[in-house]
Amino acid sequence: MSSVNIAIDGPAGAGKSTVAKGLAKKLGYIYVDTGALYRAIGVYAMRHGVDTKDAEGVGALLGDIRVELKFIDGAQRVFLCDEDVSEAIRTPDASMAASNVSAIPAVRAFLLDLQRDIAKKNNCLMDGRDIGTVVLPDAQIKIFMTADVEERAMRRYKELQEKGINDSYEQVLKEMKERDFQDSNRPIAPLKPAEDSLIFDSTGHTLEQSIDELTALIGERV
Ligand code: DC
Repeated sequence: MSSVNIAIDGPAGAGKSTVAKGLAKKLGYIYVDTGALYRAIGVYAMRHGVDTKDAEGVGALLGDIRVELKFIDGAQRVFLCDEDVSEAIRTPDASMAASNVSAIPAVRAFLLDLQRDIAKKNNCLMDGRDIGTVVLPDAQIKIFMTADVEERAMRRYKELQEKGINDSYEQVLKEMKERDFQDSNRPIAPLKPAEDSLIFDSTGHTLEQSIDELTALIGERV
C-alpha cells in the first residue's frame, strides 16, 4: 500500500512545526522537518568558512556532506557527517545560512531524493517551503500555513528567549522579513502555495485551535 503524505508549507514562524508535530502524533504519522536539512548544510558551510551565498563554494562542499534524518521515538534528529546537529542548527545564524544555501540549485537537487525517499516509505507530514509544489506534488493533502509577520516574529522571539538567545524583537522581525523575502523571491522552488493547497492563517490562533481546525480539515480528506 502506498504511503499517505501531507505537505505543510509556509513562511518561518507560521507554527508549521508545532502544529505538524501535534497532528503527526494524532494521526500516528512521522513528522519531517525539511528545513533542518538546509540548516545542516548552512552550518557545514559556516564551519568551513564558506560564504553561504557563494553557489560555487557551497556546491564544491556537497561531495563531502552526508546529511541524514533519523526518527528516534518518533522525534526527528538531524545528522551531519554522523554528528547529531539537531540543536546546533537552531541559531539565528543557522536560519539565515539555511535560507542562503536553499537558494542554490545544486543544494536543492542534493536534498530532493532524500526527502522523496522518506515520503515514499512512511506516512508523513512533511514541513517546508516547496513540499506541495516541488518535492511531493502528488501529496494527498497540501496545507499552506501562514500568519502575520509581526506575530510570527513574536513567536520566534519567545522561542529564542527560552533557549537563552537574547536577540531583540526588532532584530528577529528584521531577519524574518529578510528570510521571507529571500525564500519567496528566489528563482528556484520559491515559497508559494500549491494551486491545490488549503490556505490556513494561524494569526490569533492558539496552538490547540490550529491543531483542532487542521485535524478537522484533514479528517475530511484522508
Ligand atoms: O523551516 P526552517 O525555518 O527551518 O527553514 C530554514 C530555511 O530553509 C528557510 O529559510 C528556507 C529553507 N527551506 C527551503 O528552502 N525549503 C524547504 N523545504 C525547507 C526550508
